[in-house]
Amino acid sequence: MRDLTPRQIVDELDRHIVGQHDAKRAVAIAIRNRWRRQQLADDMKAEVAPKNILMIGPTGVGKTEIARRLAKLTGAPFIKVEATKYTEVGYYGRDVESMIRELVENAIGLVRESERAKVEEEARQRAEEKLLDLLVPPPVASDETSDEAVNKALERHERTREKMRAMLAAGDLDERKVELTLEQKAVPMMLTGMGMEQVDLDLQGMFEKIIPRSTSRREMTVKDARRVLHEQESDSLINQEKVNAAAIELAEDLGILFVDEIDKVVASEGKGADVSRQGVQRDLLPIVEGTTVQTRYGYVKTDHILFIAAGAFHRASPSELMPELQGRFPIRVELQDLTKDDFIRILTEPKSALTKQYEALLKTENVELEFTADAIESLASYAFQVNQSTQNIGARRLYTIMERLLEDLSFDAPEMKKRRVKIDAPYVNERLDKVVKDEDLSQFIL
Ligand SMILES: Nc1ncnc2c1ncn2[C@@H]1O[C@H](COP(=O)(O)OP(=O)(O)OP(=O)(O)O)[C@@H](O)[C@H]1O
Ligand SMILES: [Mg+2]
Repeated sequence: MRDLTPRQIVDELDRHIVGQHDAKRAVAIAIRNRWRRQQLADDMKAEVAPKNILMIGPTGVGKTEIARRLAKLTGAPFIKVEATKYTEVGYYGRDVESMIRELVENAIGLVRESERAKVEEEARQRAEEKLLDLLVPPPVASDETSDEAVNKALERHERTREKMRAMLAAGDLDERKVELTLEQKAVPMMLTGMGMEQVDLDLQGMFEKIIPRSTSRREMTVKDARRVLHEQESDSLINQEKVNAAAIELAEDLGILFVDEIDKVVASEGKGADVSRQGVQRDLLPIVEGTTVQTRYGYVKTDHILFIAAGAFHRASPSELMPELQGRFPIRVELQDLTKDDFIRILTEPKSALTKQYEALLKTENVELEFTADAIESLASYAFQVNQSTQNIGARRLYTIMERLLEDLSFDAPEMKKRRVKIDAPYVNERLDKVVKDEDLSQFIL
């Protein structure tokens, strides 16, 4: 895991997300605390529980975005789940424990990747030898062949092989065909219908062991074969048991579980509330508190997994969550409504800001877009206006506005004579003013 300081984490997040400083600070501290805990002696380490975070804020202001960016940043096992996708144990649907299984799956991927990197060179060499065996099969000698002849044949074979090796390295043989033996993972028919991640415990692994591995021979180019052989070799070099153990440890110590839409599992009383929602909260309790979950890779203790929950809390307020659950999210951060100035910055500043995206997209058609400052200002102010007059959907409004603005251009771009298009305030007003002013219209279009 990268040992980023809180300030570095916030700086990184700043490159993608505008504002929301409190939320960024809170997650940065939480991430740093994981690293701090890792430095402690074992007895102290066991005592330090993560301080789970509850992010509260209106829709479209960056809650999920912060989580997504954080995941890429930390290198820790991280998954994002929607609370609404889960049901209480016994109901049809996913049970809450499967979150942990998913997290471990993610950790397995991380560990495997780093193990692969370690054996990279050896696997490459082995794959090359295998490939040469296929291209230049060793000579077969019968009993009658004289020793001398055998030696000669071997020598010649060795020479050809070295020649081929050079050609292989130069990529001269890439298009040549070879035949490979592939192992096929048999997936029992009865299981294919379900999502495999839902198949409980080690059922899947069990089947993989019981059902005989079938092999098949396939012809492919040297280029493809090299990749397949490399994969086979690195699989055989990696100790799967070790990977499993390391992954479980990683998930236990550094895992982060982002539970989105937590407010949606607050049973809204009096409206024929779904009983299973309250049940999801109840099922979440032990997991957040610390329990042991069985996965196909082994038992996982959830005591030190960091939970970040987020929700808009439009209708329900955080105090309507089950009291026990509230207590398990001691850190509350509120995200702010976005202002017109925020919109201006969101449109232009982040690394992949919307205007940059459209510029890049149209560039593929050889059309150069240029947004003037007053155009951006005007776009931001329309977005803000529509958010006020219809529904406030935060930065998502910018997507609909931009799409509307550039609709004609997106359609016509391939055939356009003009290769440079300047988007200025009049251009924006011409295309958006009527729609924005007409509230009925903007409800549907923007
Ligand atoms: N502060 C921000 N800076 C940059 N982009 C933002 C910001 N807030 C939102 N966005 C953009 O708006 C879109 C929606 O944001 P996001 O998914 O984070 O919303 P959310 O807060 O999770 O809303 P919801 O409650 O509906 O889940 C994303 O594409 C994101 O890039
Ligand atoms: Mg979200």
